[in-house]
Parts: sequence; C-alpha cells; structure tokens
Amino acid sequence: MKALIIALLFMSTAVFAEDTRQLAKLPAPAQESLRQEMLDNLVAVNEVLSLMAEGKVKEAGEAAEAKLGMSAMGKHRSKPFDARPGPHMPPAMHGIGMDGHKAVSEFAAVAKTGDRDKAIALLPNLTAACVGCHFSYRTR
Ligand code: HEC
Repeated sequence: MKALIIALLFMSTAVFAEDTRQLAKLPAPAQESLRQEMLDNLVAVNEVLSLMAEGKVKEAGEAAEAKLGMSAMGKHRSKPFDARPGPHMPPAMHGIGMDGHKAVSEFAAVAKTGDRDKAIALLPNLTAACVGCHFSYRTR
C-alpha cells in the first residue's frame, strides 16, 4: 500500500492538470449511500486522531475498529441493490476499500493493547486507503 501511495503522489501534478482518474459509474442511490458513508468516515478519522492526541489509545482503537475497521463492513447490505456502493464498483476499487478496512483493523488491534508508540507507527493505516482510492477513482 505504501509503494502505491508514493507512486500516486508522484502522479499528483498530472492529476491536477487534467482529471485522469478512472470514472466509476454508480447508480444515484449508491452514490448517495457512499457520500453519507464518506462523511461518517471523515468524522471517524478525526475522532480517532483526537483520542490518540489525548492519550486515550485503547479508546482510539475501539472507535477505529467499530467505525472504520472490518467491523464497519457491510453497512449497506440490507439496502436495495441500487443503493449498495460495493457491488457497483470496479473490483480493484472495491479491493482498495476492503484493504482499507483491514489496515484500520491492524491499527485498532495494536491500539487496543494501549501501546501508544506502536499505535502511532500504524496511524497512517487510517488514511492510506482514503488517499489511494480518491487519487485513482471518481464517480462523476
Ligand atoms: C474505495 C474507494 C474509497 C475509499 C477507500 C474512500 N473513499 Fe471517500 N469517496 C470515494 C468516492 C467515489 C467519493 C465520491 C462520492 C460521490 O459520488 O459523491 C468519495 C467522497 C468522499 C468525501 C466527500 C463527501 C461529499 O461531501 O461529497 C469525503 C469527505 C471522503 N470521501 C472521505 C473519505 C475518507 C476520510 C476515507 C478514508 C477513511 C475515504 N473517503 C475512503 C471513494 C472512496
């Protein structure tokens, strides 16, 4: 994942000049579900960072697992097919999302032990997939 991010950062000037990201066509209801999930993601990342800054490492791990980790997968499962983002994504895009949940769970498992230094070393696991997906895909 790290190598991918570095490669993407080198590409960033080209991305800004012209939007070369791959277009993922999602049905409107799926796009709406995704946007709501994304806003929740943003709040969750901020919450985890704030808890880490306050030295509440175990709480940070618990919040990360519940809101962004593997425990947070399948939120849209009970919605109509059209409103579920996952199945409408290109497989590689969906893969970035699932790898992101796994990466957060790795951070969460360490943070839940209360080991602050090890948890800080894994902090980039929280945002690597956000960057990876946003630099590669757009929905409009
Ligand atoms: C698998 C791909 C993927 C991953 C991983 C991902 N996003 Fe997104 N995100 C998207 C797409 C696609 C959109 C555009 C949705 C739309 O059509 O409005 C988006 C939109 C957003 C938006 C804008 C919402 C709005 O107001 O329109 C925010 C904020 C955001 N993402 C935050 C995050 C954060 C934080 C993470 C990581 C915790 C993350 N995203 C991970 C694909 C992804």
